[in-house]
Amino acid sequence: MVAVTQNLENTIDELRTLLGDRVSTNKTVRDTHSRDESWHHPRQPDAVVFPTSTEEVSDIVRVCAQYNTPVVAYGTGTGLEGNVVPHRGGVVVDLENMNEVLRVNPADLDCTVQARVTRKQLNEYIRDQGIFFPIDPGADASLGGMAATRASGTNAVRYGTMRENVLGLTVVLADGRIIRTSKRARKSAAGYDLTRLFVGSEGTLGIITEVTLRLYGVPEAMASAVCSFESIKGAVDTVIQTIQLGIPVARIELLDDVQMDAVNKYSDLTYPVKDTLFIEFHGTDNGVTEQAELLQSIASENNGGEFKWTTKPEERTKLWAARHDVTYATKSIRPGCEIWATDVCVPISSLTDCILETKKDLDESFLIAPLVGHVGDGNFHLGFVIDRENPKELAEAERLNERLVMRALAMDGTCTGEHGIGIGKMKFLTAEHGDAVAVMRQIKKALDPSNIMNPGKIFSI
Ligand code: LAC
Ligand code: ZN
Repeated sequence: MVAVTQNLENTIDELRTLLGDRVSTNKTVRDTHSRDESWHHPRQPDAVVFPTSTEEVSDIVRVCAQYNTPVVAYGTGTGLEGNVVPHRGGVVVDLENMNEVLRVNPADLDCTVQARVTRKQLNEYIRDQGIFFPIDPGADASLGGMAATRASGTNAVRYGTMRENVLGLTVVLADGRIIRTSKRARKSAAGYDLTRLFVGSEGTLGIITEVTLRLYGVPEAMASAVCSFESIKGAVDTVIQTIQLGIPVARIELLDDVQMDAVNKYSDLTYPVKDTLFIEFHGTDNGVTEQAELLQSIASENNGGEFKWTTKPEERTKLWAARHDVTYATKSIRPGCEIWATDVCVPISSLTDCILETKKDLDESFLIAPLVGHVGDGNFHLGFVIDRENPKELAEAERLNERLVMRALAMDGTCTGEHGIGIGKMKFLTAEHGDAVAVMRQIKKALDPSNIMNPGKIFSI
């Protein structure tokens, strides 16, 4: 203990020499960096530092490595599985000053940003050039954080996830070395794919400081539609048939009746309180019309109600803002509560069974948990509304969550489509990957032998 305290004091002293007043041990600052947006219990770091460059991040990591001090990178703190909660204390590296768009190349449809540039900030920056970055997890997350958690969200059904859209990374390794994982070529067969090793590594292998991303031309036409259903089966079957037919929807989101009720109240809307699909089409004018008509006929075969659609930007914005605010809408169901947001993803043909069995569990439980999902990818969430100090509620959320995850795994799905493992899904990793987890541990040990990078996340060492 004495040695640990001494090491921490030495770390902070040396960081002060490097960064001056950009090292904070202030209680309020530490408190802000003790949590994410999930129910997971907060833990304060010992210090928070605010570097301005990759070189400074490297210097910080070298100091932490010297004293075996945990280092956790922090972007916007909008994660949902405790991914950035510094639950072993140490130093949080807040990248807030590293928020510059470094380069945009419209001719190649790519750009490079510092890690703390957020997705909305990037889109604002490039809007005039007729290009955009599609990945949209809801929160205005940092692109470095999105890369670190392999984020996705509503547009992934059309544009892919961060796995498909990160072309390269600058990473500071656990010993302070700075590497660039690739050039800008769209494809490469040169060696191991380190880009994809770091995408989704949740800060456990290194700190991402710069991200090179794919961009897309803004489509000529965009239309959004809303359709409610008499049964959740009708809604999900509509999605499955849409995907199987290859209709290139840009977004297709399911909100169950419980979620719709919360969204209506929170976002001041008047949609029917029924299982509902929010859909978006991107393409040419004709293409969008054709897609919408096809989807409308599939929906009506599945007992879908009226198909309300719009091309007006302000209405589309309102619709998607309401969708993105679901976590806050769910919180407002019970003021003072926390949301335990869980996240599974299954092969699309299993989605109806997975959702129906899950809804049956919920019907039999005393907990409320709205269902919302990026169903075009087979990905959906429950948001258990809990008082995290109430053991009975925690135990019930844990029980339902475990049943959900095991159901998804039995269907050859995953315990997390997009929120990552963090702290919350650690116990499911072996059930999902078996012996492959041992290989992940070997990689971790090779790159971070002293286990200082976001320790205690994804798997235990
Ligand atoms: C969403 C978050 C919960 O889809 O991932 O809104
Ligand atoms: Zn989501």
